[in-house]
Amino acid sequence: MSDVYEKVIDLAKRRGFIWPTSECYGAVAGFIDYGPLGAMMKRRVENIWRDFYVIGEGYYEIECPTIAEEAVFVASGHLKGFADKMCQCPHCKEYLRADHVAEGGGVRGAPTMKNEELTAAIASCRCLACGKVLGKIEVFNFNLMFRTSIGPGSQRTGYLRPETAQGMFVDFSRLLRFYRDHLPFGAVQIGKSYRNEISPRQGMIRLREFTQAEAEIFVHPDEKAHPNFARYAQYTMPLLTGIQQQKNEPAVPFTMRDAVDKGLIANEYVAYYLALTHEMLLKIGIRPGRLRFRQHLPDELAHYAADCWDAEVHSDRFGWVETVGIADRTDYDLKAHAVHSGTPMTVFIQYDQPRKVQRRRIIPNMSVLGKQYRTKAKAIFEALGTAEPAAGGADIVVEGEHIHIPADLFEVRDEIIEIRGDEVIPHVIEPSYGIDRMCYAVLEQAYDEDIAEGETRTVLRLTPCVAPVQVAVFPLMNRDALDTIAQEITRSLQKKGVLAEYDDSGAIGRRYRRQDEIGTPFAITIDYQTKEDNTVTVRDRDSMKQVRIAIDQVPELISTLIDGTTQFSSL
Ligand code: GAP
Repeated sequence: MSDVYEKVIDLAKRRGFIWPTSECYGAVAGFIDYGPLGAMMKRRVENIWRDFYVIGEGYYEIECPTIAEEAVFVASGHLKGFADKMCQCPHCKEYLRADHVAEGGGVRGAPTMKNEELTAAIASCRCLACGKVLGKIEVFNFNLMFRTSIGPGSQRTGYLRPETAQGMFVDFSRLLRFYRDHLPFGAVQIGKSYRNEISPRQGMIRLREFTQAEAEIFVHPDEKAHPNFARYAQYTMPLLTGIQQQKNEPAVPFTMRDAVDKGLIANEYVAYYLALTHEMLLKIGIRPGRLRFRQHLPDELAHYAADCWDAEVHSDRFGWVETVGIADRTDYDLKAHAVHSGTPMTVFIQYDQPRKVQRRRIIPNMSVLGKQYRTKAKAIFEALGTAEPAAGGADIVVEGEHIHIPADLFEVRDEIIEIRGDEVIPHVIEPSYGIDRMCYAVLEQAYDEDIAEGETRTVLRLTPCVAPVQVAVFPLMNRDALDTIAQEITRSLQKKGVLAEYDDSGAIGRRYRRQDEIGTPFAITIDYQTKEDNTVTVRDRDSMKQVRIAIDQVPELISTLIDGTTQFSSL
C-alpha cells in the first residue's frame, strides 16, 4: 500500500474523522476540523494521556488562557528566538522554510545551519512549490507566534501561546502552595497551541493550531533520582542516542537502568518519562517496530535543555516523525520568569537538622543612609541585608536601579547563625505530547485492507480503547421483535458508558463493512435464535470470528473487551 496516506485521508474525510477547516471558503492550510468520529477518537487519546499523568502520576490538570501578554514571551525567550528560517521563491513567490528546501535538495545538517550557510546551501536547490532552481536568495528569520492585541485600542500586545508550558511556569508559586511547598510535584495541561508555520504541507503533522498535552514536573535540582524508577528500571525500548547518530547507526534496545548508568540518558526522571511514553504510545495502538526514541544532538538541543529526546513514529509518507518531546528544561524558565516578573520562584528546602554557619552581615548606618537616600533608604536597608560586602562597598539593585553603597555607610560583622534550610530553584522535566500527530499515527497504523467474503475489505484496526464507536448492535431483521431486543441491548450498553451504535439498515454484511471501516472493534447481532435461547453473537472486527453469549452478559463482556481485561481470543 504505497499510497496509504491518500487512503487514510480519504477515509478520514469520508467517514467523519478529519475535515479541512472552512472548506466551503476554500480551506486554510495548517488548520483542520475533527469530525464526529475524529473528535471522539481524539478525546479517547487525550483521556488515556490523563489516565497516565493525572491518575497514574497524580499530577493535577490546570487550564490557562491560550493568549498571554507580551511580557510572558519576552521572559520565555519566544519573542526573540522562536523563529524559523524562511525564504521566498523568486519565481512563484511562495514562502518556504529554508531548512526544508535544503533537506529536499539533499543537504545534510540544514536544521542547525545559520542564515548565511543556508543561503549558500539552497542556491542550487529547487522550490518545493514550483520546482524551479532558487538561485541566490536571502534567508531570514520569521517569528512563529501569532500576534494580537488585548482590549480595544491595541493597548496591550498579546500572543497566542506556542506551547501550553508557559502557563504552568507563570503559575509556579500558586502550584507550589497547592502542593504544600514540597518537591517534586507536577502540573499538566491539555490545550490548543498556535504556531504560524511558514508552509504547512503535511496535513495533521504540521498545523498552525494544534493540541498539546504537556506535563511540567518540578524537581529538586540535585535530586534527579525518580522515587518510582524501579517501575521502569528494566523496561526495554529502542534508543537512538547521540553517539549512534554520529556513527550513522540504527536505534538499539536498552533498559532504562542501563541507559542511565551508562550516561546515555541524563537522569532517572528523563528515563522514567521516556519509558512511560513508550508504554502509552503502545497502548493507543502504535506498533513497537515503528517507534524509537531519538536524542537531540548537542547543536539541536534547545538553549534551555540539558537533555532532550523525541519519541519518533515512523510514517509511510513522512518517515520518522517527532510526536513527543521529553526534555530536562533545567531551571531556565523559572529563573527567567523570576527575573522578569520580580516574583521569587524558589522552594524552601528544610534541612533535617538546623545548621550553624558563619556569615558576614552588613549592618547599615541608618542615620547617614536616611539623610543621603531619603525615600529610598528603607529599600536600600533591606537590600543591604542580603548583599555581599566587598572592600570598596556593596553593590545592590533597588527598583531596577544599580546602586553602589560606599563601605563607610555600613559595618561588616562576622556572626554564627543557625539556618533551617535553603531556597532552591527547581528544575523542570517536561514530557510534551502532540495529540494531533498521535492521532494521525494511530489512523495510519490502523489502516488495513484484507479480503472478506471474496471482496476487499477496508478495516481500521484501532485498538478498542481509542475506537470512536466501541460496539455496533444489529438486529438481523427490522421486524419480529428483533429490533426491540437490539434497542434494549443498545440501551443497556449505553448505561454502562459504552458508545454503542444501533444500525438496522441494509444487508448485515454491508453493516459489518461500514463498522470495520471506522474501526468499531465489536458487533453484536440479534437473530432468530436470540428469541429461543436469549443469546446473541459477538463478532470480532479483526478475526471476523463470532461467539454466542447470553444477553445478560453483554454489557460486562463488552466493557472488559474494550478496556483490555478480556481478550476476544479467550472467549
Ligand atoms: N513545550 C515544549 C514544546 O512545545 P515541541 O517539540 O516544540 O516542544 C512538542 O512540541 C510536540 O508538539 C511535538 O513533539 C509535536 O508532536 C507537537 N507539535 C509541535 N509543533 C506542531 C505543529 N506545528 N503541528 C502539530 N503538532 C506540533
